[in-house]
Amino acid sequence: MEDNNRIYIFDTTLRDGEQSPGASLDEKGKLEIAKQLAELRVDVIEAGFPVTSPGDAAAVKTIAKEIKGPTICALARAVQKDIDIALESLKPAKQSRLHVFIATSEIHRKYKLNKAKDEIVRIAAWAVKHAKNHIGEVEFSPEDASRTEPPFLYQVLEAVIDAGATVLNIPDTVGYTTPFEFGNLIRDIFDHVPNIHKAIISVHCHNDLGLAVANSLAAVKFGARQVECTVNGIGERAGNAAMEEIVMALDTRKDIFGGKYTNIKKDQICKTSRLVSSLTGMTVQANKAVVGRNAFTHESGIHQDGLLKLRKTYEIMRPEEVGFGETQLVLGKHSGRHALENRLAKLGYKLSEKELNTVFDNFKQLADRKKEVFDDDLAALVDTQIVSAPKTYELVYLSVLTESGKSPKVTLKVKHKGRILSSTGTGSGPVDAAYKTIDKLLKSRRKLLDYKIQSVTVGKDAQGEVTVKVEAPGGGVVIGQGLSTDIIEASVNAYLAALNKISQKAAAEKKDRASSHGV
Ligand code: KIV
Ligand code: ZN
Repeated sequence: MEDNNRIYIFDTTLRDGEQSPGASLDEKGKLEIAKQLAELRVDVIEAGFPVTSPGDAAAVKTIAKEIKGPTICALARAVQKDIDIALESLKPAKQSRLHVFIATSEIHRKYKLNKAKDEIVRIAAWAVKHAKNHIGEVEFSPEDASRTEPPFLYQVLEAVIDAGATVLNIPDTVGYTTPFEFGNLIRDIFDHVPNIHKAIISVHCHNDLGLAVANSLAAVKFGARQVECTVNGIGERAGNAAMEEIVMALDTRKDIFGGKYTNIKKDQICKTSRLVSSLTGMTVQANKAVVGRNAFTHESGIHQDGLLKLRKTYEIMRPEEVGFGETQLVLGKHSGRHALENRLAKLGYKLSEKELNTVFDNFKQLADRKKEVFDDDLAALVDTQIVSAPKTYELVYLSVLTESGKSPKVTLKVKHKGRILSSTGTGSGPVDAAYKTIDKLLKSRRKLLDYKIQSVTVGKDAQGEVTVKVEAPGGGVVIGQGLSTDIIEASVNAYLAALNKISQKAAAEKKDRASSHGV
């Protein structure tokens, strides 16, 4: 029986989230995130927009083949070529959905599409019908719905339902609406679209005014059954509604949402957040709700005192509910492989024997340098391992000499195809010196687009996590991460990790070319 209280979570991290400035995911990264989204039990994964590039189409196809559980969805404009390519990419999926859109607001009709209202209605209905001939589930989005004249919006929605759409998404494309207005719009759609009972309403809110989550929740209150959102709220411009905030708001305030619930496995939330942050290189702000490093930290004495007396005085969610790492000591130098495996399992990681061996080696090295190893240290070790490419270049020796008033001097040894390459260089700072030395050593020069460093945990001996974005040959972006209690070593490892990804990509492309020439 249909359960009207169930709210479907449509995750668009891999499509709208990937449209975040600077976030760029390769096929392997997209698949890793899709696997984790399945563990998190999202209902729908919007895996990509296949017409935009052959790489995106291939990633959607791989996800459609490999991921079981959630419905796999692909986006298409209301254009035959887009729809056909998207349908082709979705073919391997057990459960699939095509998401087709066309803009409906006056400003988009006039300046972007140059089309009249009746033409938009005709194209929208045609696109849905065409898709419906080939796939069971079709979702339709009137782009910029929140700025569309309501009577015209109702007309479009009625036509696409007649054409076979069963999910009607109402996007606030430019993040313009407010909670009262958006809730009322959803209520008015129910009142003015005569065949609305044949479909469910979805919402897709952008965060330009910081209202994406509030607008989505207002829509739920007025009967929306699906929320489109992204992990950590990443997405175009200021981002999309943050999934973890939607899920936890519905869960924490069941009382005002009348028992509405999602199927999300909440204890996977922080793990998913960390993975998305690692793979996209988009760090999560410390005060980000639910998943930020400070989200459960109480600084003031009054709060700490209250918490000790009764947690609920200042805590509305328990950190462990969302898989937030414990900050007390969990493992040390003498902990064995079994203890590590158990702790990782508690954090939601299931590793293969080979992966566990590598993480264990890295853990032992870390425990030698750092007395206390926290959950966040372990999570960072695993995440860095998951995203790494084979070590074409591996750091084996690093010496850094800095002296007031003098340029830092770096000596590096890197293992490459069984040989040890060695070089020395200087720069304006130790990181600059190290990167220049690597460029000299490898006789290549890659443009560094972004460099970020953050500490994984608290304390003077905390590990530094460095994320770099490097320009790939041909203009793409490659992300590399390095982790170490020595931040120069972390910086070197991050740069080498990016270069290793570039080598891996080049090798794969060479193999593809060879096989397409029948070699
Ligand atoms: O923001 C938007 O309007 C979109 C649509 C394609 C759903 O992302
Ligand atoms: Zn969007």
